[in-house]
Amino acid sequence: MKINEAINQSYKVLSPVSKTAKLDVEVLLAYILNKKNRLDLYLNQQQELNPKELDKFLNLINERHQLKPISKIINQKSFWNFDLDLSYNVLIPRPETEVLIDLVTKKISQNKKMKFLDIGCGSGCISLALLDYFYFSSGVAIDVSKEAILNTRLNLKKFNLKERLKLLRQDVFKFHSTNKFDLIISNPPYLKLSDYINLDKSIKQYEPKEALIGDSSDGTMFYKKIIVNLKNNLKLGGYFAFEIGDNQMIKIEKILNINGFRIEEKFKLINNQTRCLLAKKIKNYTLQ
Ligand SMILES: C[S@@+](CC[C@H](N)C(=O)[O-])C[C@H]1O[C@@H](n2cnc3c(N)ncnc32)[C@H](O)[C@@H]1O
Repeated sequence: MKINEAINQSYKVLSPVSKTAKLDVEVLLAYILNKKNRLDLYLNQQQELNPKELDKFLNLINERHQLKPISKIINQKSFWNFDLDLSYNVLIPRPETEVLIDLVTKKISQNKKMKFLDIGCGSGCISLALLDYFYFSSGVAIDVSKEAILNTRLNLKKFNLKERLKLLRQDVFKFHSTNKFDLIISNPPYLKLSDYINLDKSIKQYEPKEALIGDSSDGTMFYKKIIVNLKNNLKLGGYFAFEIGDNQMIKIEKILNINGFRIEEKFKLINNQTRCLLAKKIKNYTLQ
């Protein structure tokens, strides 16, 4: 079978189940044939797939037909300046999380010798982006999941950033440190249980539950604990940067304010929900 025939036939298979059928087919075929990009496929439309390539390609189309996300099929996801390796049991980095990095880059000077803490590092996407943008930065990244720690380690090695990040397999609720950071950043699990139950089947089937569910009430447990327990690990003038869930803004802002923080940047989605925020430590909190 030739490349153009493989594209046309598998498009017909995927289009009833995927809104991105054409892109899916092209990405999977480029991956199987080791093409640099999708354009490369169209420049070689008459190339024949050998039986092994065809067999592999049809298997991947079948996986996609069962709604497995493309990133989980090819074990890769583009984020910031990187093509990250992605392990099966680790959350696929989302575009909103790149916006969170953008908010940070607006507020902290690129040349600062910035020290950060990344809570729930997953694939390592946030830490790698920070290390990439802030040339002189270094950080600590924690995650309770072993797969996440291994995945982050793999990506640090791939992009030669190992020396600047300390990685710890740790539950944030048991995390203690004497370090003072300039930035504590997190995209923690933030869905309430009832919202998780209503997610698309493909997300529930292929994304780790522990990366998504915040708690069974309003999903804000991680923010409360992080703000209260770790505020003293931020320097005065330092920042909390959070990705947050729908309808959580008012509650989180209240917790931030009573703990000595002021919100300085927000990113809102088209539906007016705040998805990312940056809050500055304006007071050292002392027990009354
Ligand atoms: C929404 S994912 C974010 C992953 C990555 N930072 C990103 O933005 O794509 C949340 C991460 O928090 C981790 N996590 C869940 N509970 C945790 C806990 N108690 N302590 C530390 N990390 C936790 C999960 O394993 C998961 O990797």
